Amino acid sequence: MSYAHTEVAQIAAISSNRCIGKNNELPWHISADLQHFKKMTTKQNDGDIQGIVIMGRKTFESMGSKPLPKRVSFIISTQMDYAEQKGLIDKNNAHVVHNLDDALTQAASLAHGAHLDTIWIIGGERVFNEAMMYTDRIELTHIDTEITDGDAFFPELSDNFIVASESEQMHDDKSYLDFRFVTYQKKAAE
Ligand SMILES: NC(=O)c1ccc[n+]([C@@H]2O[C@H](COP(=O)([O-])OP(=O)(O)OC[C@H]3O[C@@H](n4cnc5c(N)ncnc54)[C@H](OP(=O)(O)O)[C@@H]3O)[C@@H](O)[C@H]2O)c1
Repeated sequence: MSYAHTEVAQIAAISSNRCIGKNNELPWHISADLQHFKKMTTKQNDGDIQGIVIMGRKTFESMGSKPLPKRVSFIISTQMDYAEQKGLIDKNNAHVVHNLDDALTQAASLAHGAHLDTIWIIGGERVFNEAMMYTDRIELTHIDTEITDGDAFFPELSDNFIVASESEQMHDDKSYLDFRFVTYQKKAAE
């Protein structure tokens, strides 16, 4: 199920026990994965807007409270004055919204105008969970490590998602971690 005819995709890096975060940070640093995230969420086109991402307030803060370059960020928070607090009023690359429906509606409308096919859900745990019912595709980086003291997790995938493609196992020389990229696609409705 897409949203207003726009594909909804999620992207995350997860440990073997599905951990995605600890103390509002990523539990690892793998530069090839950050490159992968950038490449996936930024489409090289002629327009000013090269990607659209939706995230929760804590994920925004985990990235230094800065909108991602070349992309438009929708940040979800219940705090009515959050845009003002963060100096985001009148910014055209970052919009604070107060629920997921508003994020998806505004993101889909922007995607149509900017000729972008995909809206990216980039976390964290709560947003991944709530957006799952609208999600067509999931890009996961599986990191071969177990994080025992994590505090944010990626949901289990339902049987509706099947592996569409899978990279070889790769190795990060700095963190000594192995990882691979897997694309999951939602099965077409029967
Ligand atoms: N490994 C990865 O790929 C990856 C990706 C993204 C994030 N992360 C990690 O995940 C952790 C953050 O995730 P998280 O689950 O703790 O937080 P989060 O989902 O990023 O943010 C949660 C906050 O977003 C707002 N929010 C979310 N959904 C909402 C809704 N439907 N309606 C209204 N407000 C909503 C609320 O903000 P207010 O409290 O302001 O109301 C809520 O407290 C960090 O450790 C981060 O590093 C990892």
